[in-house]
Amino acid sequence: MGIRASGPPAPRHVAIIMDGNGRWARARNLPRPEGHRQGAAATRRVVEHCARRGVRVLTLFAFSSENWRRPPTEVRSLMELFLVTLRRESRRLAENGIRVCFIGDRSAFQPRLREEIEAAERLTAECVRMQLNIAANYGGRWDITQAARRLCGAVRAGELDPAQVDEAALAERLATQGVPDPDLFIRTGGEHRISNFLLWQLAYTELYFTDTLWPDFEAEDLEAAFADYASRQRRFGRTGEQLRSGDAGA
Ligand code: IPE
Ligand code: IPE
Ligand code: MG
Repeated sequence: MGIRASGPPAPRHVAIIMDGNGRWARARNLPRPEGHRQGAAATRRVVEHCARRGVRVLTLFAFSSENWRRPPTEVRSLMELFLVTLRRESRRLAENGIRVCFIGDRSAFQPRLREEIEAAERLTAECVRMQLNIAANYGGRWDITQAARRLCGAVRAGELDPAQVDEAALAERLATQGVPDPDLFIRTGGEHRISNFLLWQLAYTELYFTDTLWPDFEAEDLEAAFADYASRQRRFGRTGEQLRSGDAGA
């Protein structure tokens, strides 16, 4: 496989819904967990390619707050996969300069998974090449709700006046606080929906959908998404003429 380390400028923050593992397995008469295992291999490829291409933040949807509705055996096998993958990959991530941050409500996970999450975050805390956000037990509505709850707490504690509650005050309490909003959103697996991913943060993100199932997603597919992204004109409410004349003031 020819891996490109160059190409059009990579987006600063890429967010991905890694979908299609189950269908990948079903098409091969394999159990769904096998699809998730192959999905983990795709994840490793994509993480490393993003780091090589200079992506600063990569946010991956690994498990949604709605995925608990799946059959208990599938949920269990996913939790086990998260655990072994973290154990296996943490050191390599640290060596590659990749900082891992979990976003989502981790209180629902078993203590041994929580400990592994914390260990990976500790091990990679000083890494600055790329930040890898793993959204696990994450929901966009959960995120906005917990941010609102924290705002209310700050108001009640007298640290904040209700009149000071603005977009910045809420954004800095989201799970993604401190990182810029995604520039490019990718969903594999053919569905055209957000599935309660980063609802607030995707307000002005460029959306890219592909039918490719996640286990089949290669560096070339990522490059195709980057090339598509590079062809977009991000206007943020302005006109194309304004952008062409360089009049891009606030
Ligand atoms: C995405 O693949 C992985 C998770 C949701 C954990 P799916 O398991 O949703 O795969 P499909 O959509 O059934 O093919
Ligand atoms: C979204 O995929 C969540 C993850 C990829 C982790 P799903 O496959 O669960 O999404 P829906 O329910 O089909 O929209
Ligand atoms: Mg799916």
